[in-house]
Amino acid sequence: MITRGFLVASLLLAAACTREAASPSMPAPPPAPDIHSFARPAEARVTHVALDLQVDPAARVLRGTATLTLVRRADAGEVVLDTRGLRVTRVTDEAGQPLAHRLQPEVTFLGQALVVALPARGDRVTVHYETSPSAAALQWLTPAQTAGKTHPYLYSQGQAILTRTWIPTQDSPGIRQTYEATIRAPRPLRVVMSAEMLTPDGVDAADGQRAFRFKMDQAVPPYLIAIAAGDIAFRSLGPRTGVYTEPAVLDRAANELADLEKMVAAAESLGGPYQWGRYDVLVLPPSFPFGGMENPRLTFATPTILAGDRSLVSLLAHELAHSWSGNLVTNAVWSDFWLNEGVTTYFENRIMEALYGKDRALMLAALGRAEVLRDMKDMPPADTKLVLDLANRDPDEGMNQVAYEKGAALLHTIEAAVGRDRFDPWLRGYFNRHAFTSITSREFAGDLRRELIRGDTALEAKIALSAWLDEPGMPAVAVVPQSPAFRQVEAQVARFTGGTPASALVVDGWVTQQWQHFLEQLRTAPLSPAQLRDLDATFGFTASGNSEVLFGWLRIVVARHHEPAVPALEKFLTSQGRRKFLRPLYDDLMQSTWGQPIARRIYATARPGYHAVSAQTIDGIVK
Ligand code: BES
Ligand code: ZN
Repeated sequence: MITRGFLVASLLLAAACTREAASPSMPAPPPAPDIHSFARPAEARVTHVALDLQVDPAARVLRGTATLTLVRRADAGEVVLDTRGLRVTRVTDEAGQPLAHRLQPEVTFLGQALVVALPARGDRVTVHYETSPSAAALQWLTPAQTAGKTHPYLYSQGQAILTRTWIPTQDSPGIRQTYEATIRAPRPLRVVMSAEMLTPDGVDAADGQRAFRFKMDQAVPPYLIAIAAGDIAFRSLGPRTGVYTEPAVLDRAANELADLEKMVAAAESLGGPYQWGRYDVLVLPPSFPFGGMENPRLTFATPTILAGDRSLVSLLAHELAHSWSGNLVTNAVWSDFWLNEGVTTYFENRIMEALYGKDRALMLAALGRAEVLRDMKDMPPADTKLVLDLANRDPDEGMNQVAYEKGAALLHTIEAAVGRDRFDPWLRGYFNRHAFTSITSREFAGDLRRELIRGDTALEAKIALSAWLDEPGMPAVAVVPQSPAFRQVEAQVARFTGGTPASALVVDGWVTQQWQHFLEQLRTAPLSPAQLRDLDATFGFTASGNSEVLFGWLRIVVARHHEPAVPALEKFLTSQGRRKFLRPLYDDLMQSTWGQPIARRIYATARPGYHAVSAQTIDGIVK
């Protein structure tokens, strides 16, 4: 309930509020306006979150308190927080006295503003709340959905605007916050977070619970606050690196991630010192909707990277690269998502080159370029600009390969224009100059012009920055990765489509990326049922333990309506929930009267096992 006086005061305040100069208590300038947050950070801004939560797997809720530390303008009468689906029971001040508050009407995908009347003095408010069992950030897994089959599991996915479904805070990437947490969970669950783990094994608490404490002293955007709880084991991989996962998966995961420590070193030689202390990876159960998520100190990763031969580790290079681009220097608003993903995809490629050589890096870059060029053909041109217009849209919708691959191509193009001797120091300097801040594309452009282009008009024209940021499509100036290894693949594709049997193709020593390219090239070829049987009998695609290879094959299966592989397709779609694999397969199935009933039948079984992020996307496809 709110009082009438409070309402009047807040209306007056709202009227008086302009973006005026910050008072001495608010040293930093107010963040860029974010259309995906209700917060009014120029008035009162969250700087620290202290969580005290109980994990309740039976009720599928987190329950407890979030105590927020604020900086406020002297005349600020209220603080506005982002929430979605939270049951707020009370809001109190430092003395435990109730504070007037109101939840504003729900706005699609943004949730509800929680407006709290600020006490005359004090910079802390405590929100007492419980999450909804259907909180979009959280997936509660039954024991059957885990590898061990014995204990429940919980994990969160905050990016882009889902943190508000489990933490009432200012959920904008421009509003950085430090955090600490005490989390209780029933034994024998272990809780991990994207923070320093103060009690790795937990301490015994009442009622068969164990309590875990965490702290993150570096200010991060709230989408990087992450949690998981389950039967989770740990193995060290190096002085700063290690892997967390279910005991049954630990050996496989540790073997796959053997190069992690080397990867951190390679990344440091390009980006400068790793700033986050430890770099661990949590390998999640198969429903995790992303390949990876760069939660600080603890990357979350899909188990579909466990190919057995370390061939898919570029995904970890990517998430590690975010420790600079994304986590250190963050997009201030989601329209500038490419600042996170494009710079990271470039950086990922450099890490891969340093560790595994130029050939591998060129193959990865070529795969990325081919994919984005295909995607762009079917996209509204406006969405192929780097700077996105996300007005009235869920940011999740605008997030496609353009940010990744057009963004990376921009950096490759700048690199080629000035040479690594100049480019590398600039990139490192860029990370340093903006470390622990959130910036916009305009600030990126300003930095590039001030520090690298420096008035060189020929260079400015060569890079054509505005063609990248504000115009659709892949700019003509983009450098094109040339992969000799892919030329070999293309020659074999031509032979096969020309009638040569699969067994006569020259594929010796092909690496996973070559197989990916091979399958992608064949996807649109008019192969006969006999040719499909020949391919599978010779190369064993249906039985492949490599998720990328199996995915590439299954896309062909769907395109050609190849019945014999439908059981394998069904197994793939029901045994993992990575959206990148699900979306194209369901999309392709829905294109034909052959595929539609298959898609509907499989999705009916599979949907309960998917995380909300994937289910929301597939709901829009399978109807
Ligand atoms: N930060 C992203 C995942 C993400 C993007 C989550 C947008 C929510 C909204 C992560 O770093 C990522 O890009 N993951 C990729 C893998 C990567 C190798 C391209 C993925 O999950 O496919
Ligand atoms: Zn990424």
